[in-house]
Amino acid sequence: MNFKDQPIISMRNFSREMIDHILAAAEKMEPIARGEERSDLLSGKILAVLFFEPSTRTRMSFETAMLRLGGDVLNLGSVDASSIAKGETLADTIRVVDGYVDAIVLRHPKEGAAHLASEFSSVPILNAGDGAGHHPTQTLLDLYTIKRESHLEDLKIALAGDLKYGRTVHSLCYALSLYGAQITLISPKELRMPEEIINDIIAKGAKIKEVDTIEEAIKDVDVLYMTRIQKERFPDPAEYHKVANKLKITAETLKEAKPELKIMHPLPRVNEIDNKVDDTPHACYFKQAFYGVPVRMAVLGLVLGAIE
Ligand code: CP
Repeated sequence: MNFKDQPIISMRNFSREMIDHILAAAEKMEPIARGEERSDLLSGKILAVLFFEPSTRTRMSFETAMLRLGGDVLNLGSVDASSIAKGETLADTIRVVDGYVDAIVLRHPKEGAAHLASEFSSVPILNAGDGAGHHPTQTLLDLYTIKRESHLEDLKIALAGDLKYGRTVHSLCYALSLYGAQITLISPKELRMPEEIINDIIAKGAKIKEVDTIEEAIKDVDVLYMTRIQKERFPDPAEYHKVANKLKITAETLKEAKPELKIMHPLPRVNEIDNKVDDTPHACYFKQAFYGVPVRMAVLGLVLGAIE
């Protein structure tokens, strides 16, 4: 399987074989990610980190992945301190930065920005989130978490929260359809999963059910994937206030859950998971954030041609 020099833009381009290949590579990276083994696999390689939106996990786990593999990181830093503040276009920025580095990680508020960047770049673009579009490495780490902490075969999963604007759930749905997962969608009616995504994933093999409350789904599922209602994606703040706080997991909600239920969240959370849930065996979201490191190590190793 050849990932060398390939951009990673959307999960729509991935087959199940490609995903399984990356997850297997990530498993081998885990001891290095934990600092138990050292590696110079990416020695001499430089990764540019261009974030036009805030991030903690994606940015830092890409940087950690590169450093743990002996590579270097060049961070654009604050957009306000770069020439973008003088009006430089994304295309021109990419055409300049690709001369400095071996791969570029890009987060941008506009859907399609990573695809556009890949048309101007001579090095692989890794999409770290493009507006309400896709976030493919998040999906890969989500799948890795499900594989490590639950199971990908015969999976029953509920996705809850902002299913309209949530790029992590859009990407995850495409990938889960390749595994024939039973997916229950839980959201306020204003934040339903877009119809075209539902139709696409049903055509790919997923079984879909839509419900309004977590309580209707909690008894049956192996994984409950919560997401934040994203205030920053609402054109009208009044619309946000109508739906904020509608879905929340508390210890009470979990009384009916299977003992082996895992709760995932791409984070950051606002108040959709009560802190008391953190102390239950169901909480999986901090492990999930760690798994971003081995998964992004695998992706970097593959696109930079250091592993096959
Ligand atoms: N999960 C995720 O994308 O988190 P950050 O916004 O902190 O990168």
